[in-house]
Amino acid sequence: MRPLEDGMKFDTIIKNGQIVTATDTQASDIGITSGKVAAIANSLPQEGAGKVIDAAGRMVIPGGIDVHTHLDMPFGGTTSADDFESGTIAAAHGGTTTLIDFAIQYKGQSLRQAFDTWMKKADGKAAIDYAFHCIITDLGTAQLEEMGALVREGVSSFKLFMAYPGVFMLDDATIFRAMSQAAKYGGLICMHAENGGAIDVLVQRALAEGKRSPKYHALTRPTTAEGEATGRAIALAEMAGAPVYIVHMSCNDALEKVREARDRGLAVYAETCPQYLFLSIENMDVPGFEGAKYVFTPPLREKWHQEKLWQGLARDTLQVVSTDHCPFCFKEQKELGKDDFTKIPNGGPGIEHRLSLVYTGGIHGGRFSPNRFVQMVATAPAKLFGLYPRKGTIAVGSDADLVVWDPNAEEVISAERHHMKVDYSMFEGIKVKGVPKTVLSRGRAVVENGKFVGKAGRGEFLKRQTFVRL
Ligand code: URP
Ligand code: ZN
Ligand code: ZN
Repeated sequence: MRPLEDGMKFDTIIKNGQIVTATDTQASDIGITSGKVAAIANSLPQEGAGKVIDAAGRMVIPGGIDVHTHLDMPFGGTTSADDFESGTIAAAHGGTTTLIDFAIQYKGQSLRQAFDTWMKKADGKAAIDYAFHCIITDLGTAQLEEMGALVREGVSSFKLFMAYPGVFMLDDATIFRAMSQAAKYGGLICMHAENGGAIDVLVQRALAEGKRSPKYHALTRPTTAEGEATGRAIALAEMAGAPVYIVHMSCNDALEKVREARDRGLAVYAETCPQYLFLSIENMDVPGFEGAKYVFTPPLREKWHQEKLWQGLARDTLQVVSTDHCPFCFKEQKELGKDDFTKIPNGGPGIEHRLSLVYTGGIHGGRFSPNRFVQMVATAPAKLFGLYPRKGTIAVGSDADLVVWDPNAEEVISAERHHMKVDYSMFEGIKVKGVPKTVLSRGRAVVENGKFVGKAGRGEFLKRQTFVRL
C-alpha cells in the first residue's frame, strides 16, 4: 500500500472488496485514474469520483489472461466461429481481459505476413486487449532472421507443431533451429507436443478398418504420443538452451515429463485447459455424431488423468490454465466430418468459462487457494508472456483490468446463455460456483451484471516483452 496523495480524485473507485492477487489477500479500496490503478488504500475518498463500484462481499481479482485462443482462424476446411469481436466479448463475460491469439505463417510466407494478417483481423473488433504468438510452419533462413524482428515488435513467442503432418508439423531439426533462435532473441517456444507421424499411421489404419466415427479421433491419438513428444520437445529445448512452454496438456504421461524436467531445474512450463480438467473420453460415448462436439487435439483422456492435472496445477508442475478456444458449430462445421472423423474440424469453445470452471474445481473443490487461482489464470500467463506488471496483477501503475468476483454465485453453463457464437457448449449442464459480476478493461466497465457494456474496437494490441524466467 502507498500513502495517498492529498486531494487525489479518481475516475472510478472499487470499494469494500477483498483484493486477491497471486501473493496477497487484503480488504482495500482501489482507485482508478486514466485506465490505471492509481491507489490501493483502506478507505479512499469518494468525493469527485466518476463512478463508485461497491464490491462488498466480493473479491477483486486481476483480469484473466487467456494465452491460447484461435479467433477467426481458418482450419480444417472452415473458419473458427468466433471472430475478434464475438470472441473477445465472450471472453469479457467470463472475466478475461487479455488474450493472446495465434498468427499463422503459412508455407512460403514471411512471419511478418502472418503478423499483418492477424493484426487486420483484430483491428477495430477486439473489445479487450490482445497480443499474438506466431505459428511457424516454414522456417527458411529468411524466417529464422525474422524471428528476432518479431520479438522486437512484441511478438515474443512462437508456436511449433509436432503433429498435423503436411499442415503444421515441423521436423526435429527445424524445431531445434527455431528453439536456438528463440533463445538468442529472448523468445519463448510454445509446443504442440504429439507424435504426429505415429498418429498418422494409427489414423490410416483406423480408416482402413472402417472406423470413422468421432470417437476414433481420440482413440488414434494415444497418451503415449503426447508423452513421447513432450519428452522430445524438452530434450530439444535443453540442447538448444531454450525455455519451452508445452500447450494444451491433456494427460499424465506428458505431465510426468514436465515434472522430471522441472525437478532438474530446466525452464520448462506447461498449461492445461478446462476441457481436460472437467471432461473425459466418456463424453464421446454418445449416440450418432454428437461426439464430434468433443473433437479437439490432444483429445479427451480417461477420467483418472483429470485429477493428475489438478494436482499438477496445485504443485506448480503446470503453471497456466488457458482455453485453446477454437470453436466450430456443430451444424455445418463439425458436420464436415459426418462420415469421416479426420474431416471434423479440430477444436472446442471455452473462452467464456475458464475462470468459473477453474474456481469451481480448484477452490470449491478444495484443491488450492484463491491466490493460486489468480496465479494460474492471470499472473503466471502475464509473467511468462511478457505482459507483467502491466497486466496480471493489482498494483499501483498496472492497467485497471479488474474483475469483481462473486465467489458464491452459481450458474449452470448452457449454450442457451453463453455469448460465444457457437451452437453448443462443451460444458453444458455443469454448475459453476464463482462468477464475474463486473469486469473492467483499462478502467472502463466492459461487463456489468451479465451485460456487455464495452465497445468492440476498444481493445489494444499489446507489445510484449522478451521472456523472463518464472
Ligand atoms: O483441436 C485443437 N486444439 N485445435 C486448435 C489447434 C491447436 O492445435 O491448438
Ligand atoms: Zn495445438
Ligand atoms: Zn490451440
